[in-house]
Amino acid sequence: MFVNINTLPLQRFYREGLLLMFCKKTKFNIVPITDIYRAAVDNQIAESFAGPFMVSRGMLHDTRTHAGFAAVDKSEVVGYILYNIIGTGCEITVIESLRSKQGIGGALTDAVKQTASESGCKRLWLITTNDNAAAFRFYQRYGFSLCNMHIDSMITARKLKPQIPLYGIDGIPIAHELEFEIAL
Ligand SMILES: CC(C)(COP(=O)(O)OP(=O)(O)OC[C@H]1O[C@@H](n2cnc3c(N)ncnc32)[C@H](O)[C@@H]1OP(=O)(O)O)[C@@H](O)C(=O)NCCC(=O)NCCS
Repeated sequence: MFVNINTLPLQRFYREGLLLMFCKKTKFNIVPITDIYRAAVDNQIAESFAGPFMVSRGMLHDTRTHAGFAAVDKSEVVGYILYNIIGTGCEITVIESLRSKQGIGGALTDAVKQTASESGCKRLWLITTNDNAAAFRFYQRYGFSLCNMHIDSMITARKLKPQIPLYGIDGIPIAHELEFEIAL
């Protein structure tokens, strides 16, 4: 299928079995995470976040059980996103772009947002920690709103996942969870 990328807004994708995303600097495909990419994603979560377990709102998630999408360039995983749908809420449980500022994070979020809408969800939400200023900048630029702040919640989180460090980005103490949402 021929696509004239000049007529496409930057963060638009379409579904043809694969979700394709084009941008100025790189070309990558957004694909559902199947067995082909699961090991690469699991390894990356282990390296970046001491995975496979992640904690949010006092819940321990085994990310290996979460569905998601990978950004793939010539069979290399260059980003991934996982989500967990409970009722009418869809939580993004982990997102990572391995090539920043090339549209990967936005395209991955688009894919989950579309999936959540199609699944009847009314809310897309996520948790980040107070040290991760780049992440909450990204979320707000994307369209998420801060909807809650859970003061000192990382004390409970560390009981569930002791590997969570005391200090995070720029040496900032990791103490609180910030909750962002988009109404669908
Ligand atoms: C947060 C994160 C996922 C963002 O991913 P990303 O791939 O850099 O995101 P995008 O490229 O879609 O968007 C970032 C910026 O690049 C811009 N951009 C997108 N495509 C571009 C291109 N081709 N050329 C130049 N800029 C581009 C976007 O418009 C956006 O600009 P803005 O910051 O002015 O709004 C990434 O920084 C990350 O993986 N962080 C580490 C892991 C992490 O903290 N995860 C969250 C835990 S809660």
